[in-house]
Amino acid sequence: MSFTINPFRMNPKDCLTNALTANHDQDLRQPSGGEKEILLPENTVIETERLILRKMTIDDLDHLLLIFSDPKVMESFNEPPFDREKMEKWVQHNLDHQDRHGYGIFCAILKENNQLVGACGLHHMKVDETPEVELGYDFRSAYWNRGLATEAAKGVRDWAFDQLGLTRVISLIRTHNKASMRVAEKMGMVREKEWARGDIKYYVYSQSRES
Ligand SMILES: CC(C)(COP(=O)(O)OP(=O)(O)OC[C@H]1O[C@@H](n2cnc3c(N)ncnc32)[C@H](O)[C@@H]1OP(=O)(O)O)[C@@H](O)C(=O)NCCC(=O)NCCS
Repeated sequence: MSFTINPFRMNPKDCLTNALTANHDQDLRQPSGGEKEILLPENTVIETERLILRKMTIDDLDHLLLIFSDPKVMESFNEPPFDREKMEKWVQHNLDHQDRHGYGIFCAILKENNQLVGACGLHHMKVDETPEVELGYDFRSAYWNRGLATEAAKGVRDWAFDQLGLTRVISLIRTHNKASMRVAEKMGMVREKEWARGDIKYYVYSQSRES
C-alpha cells in the first residue's frame, strides 16, 4: 500500500476547495486499461494493491447509487433502497464533512476496471457523549467477498493513524451484520461493547494505534 502526498496536512479547507473547483480538463488522469467511465482526479489519498481511495465529489452520485439503491446493501441497514434524492442528501452530508474535517468517506475505485465499487472512510461522530471517528465501508454487492472492503478499511485505518495521527477508530456494526463484523475482525478490530441508538442495536468495534 502507498500513500500519496497528503493534501490535508496543509489546509484541509483549501484542499477541498481546490478539489471541487479544479479545472477537470487539466486535473483528471485516466489509468491505463479498463473501462474509461470514471476519471480519477489528482486527489488520490490512499492507494492499496487493488484500490484507489479518493475524495468524493457530487459527480460521483450516480455511481454511488449503484451501491445504495441495491436492496441487498440496504438490507444491512434495515432501510429501503435510496432514491436519487436520498443519495444526494447523503453525498452532500459527506461533502460537508469533508469541508469541515478535510476528509470523509472516500470513493473506492477498483484499478482493474476503473469502476467505483465502494465507499470507505472516516466520519466524526459521538457515541453517547464521547467523540469518536468511525471507519465505515459499503461496497457494491457484485464485488462482495473478494476482500475489497477489508483492503480498503485497512488502508483507511493505516492512513488515519500514520498520516492524520488519530489514535483510535471505531466501527459501529448492527448486531445482525455478520459480513461487516468479519471485516472488522479481519482488520484487527476488537468488539468493545454493545450500544443502542434509539431502538437500533450496534456492536462498537475499535482499534487503537500501536504506540
Ligand atoms: C460489509 C461489506 C462492506 C463487506 O464487503 P466485502 O468486500 O464483501 O468484504 P470482504 O470480502 O473484505 O470480507 C467479507 C467477509 O465476510 C464474510 N461474510 C460474508 N457474508 C457473511 C455472512 N452472512 N455471515 C458470515 N460471514 C460472512 C466473507 O466470507 C468474508 O470473510 P472471509 O474473508 O473470512 O471469507 C459488504 O457486505 C457490504 O457492503 N454490505 C452492505 C453494507 C454494510 O453492511 N456496510 C457495513 C455497515 S457497518
